[in-house]
Amino acid sequence: MNADRMLLAQISDCHVIEPGRLLFDRVDTAALLAAAVAHLNRLRPDFVWITGDLVDSGAPAQYAHLRTLLGPLDIPYALLPGNHDARGALKAAFADHACWPEGDGKLDYVIEGLPLRLIALDSLVPGEGGGRLEEEQLAWLDAQLRRAPARPTVIAVHHPPFATGIAEMDAISLEGAAALGAIVARHPQIERILCGHLHRPTTVHWQGTVVTTAPSTAHQVALRLGPADPVSWVMEPPALHLHRWQKGHGLVTHQSYIGDYGPTTPFG
Ligand SMILES: [Fe+2]
Repeated sequence: MNADRMLLAQISDCHVIEPGRLLFDRVDTAALLAAAVAHLNRLRPDFVWITGDLVDSGAPAQYAHLRTLLGPLDIPYALLPGNHDARGALKAAFADHACWPEGDGKLDYVIEGLPLRLIALDSLVPGEGGGRLEEEQLAWLDAQLRRAPARPTVIAVHHPPFATGIAEMDAISLEGAAALGAIVARHPQIERILCGHLHRPTTVHWQGTVVTTAPSTAHQVALRLGPADPVSWVMEPPALHLHRWQKGHGLVTHQSYIGDYGPTTPFG
């Protein structure tokens, strides 16, 4: 891999359930993830990061199904838990993944050896929709960032640290966001913070960096910005993010829709 550039793909909120079942009796999350995997194999990124809500209720059978669905992905990938995940079952199903920390605590990790340094923060709080970063996680993050101030770095955390304007999602956002922001503001090597959770794409300038949320590979959250609007889902086209980093040019995010939209046609 060229050290001066990298293609980092991000998929999110796959919400896989047991084989043969539909989420909400309507959404075939397994078929949608299989389509995302085929799409990734065609795009050929250098690495794939899957930013939480990997499965829908944290059951071991759901992680086994997830693992089967990710089997055809012939690109290295790493996983991050979201509020629908269960730390123990996730780690057990992917025990061969080298990135996990020891013990049964939060699944924070660093991936070295790629042109971008990747730092995962585990915001899962069992039984809660909202997320939280603990003081010790933030101290660990600060120490990691101090160790490599010249390395372009991307952080992933499932829950976005900012208010999106979708009221019921903002009610289950990230506790500890202000403390995270104070650390982020001190480390200009952070190219981006990647989030999931929202099931739709957003971008914000935050604490001296850029934070983006990725769409879901399955159902999207409807764009309803009224303060009393109930949160609702909609089958807008599933999509993924392809983050292209090049030294001297920064990180550019492309949104790639998953599905058959017809042939590409040259202009003219
Ligand atoms: Fe989700």
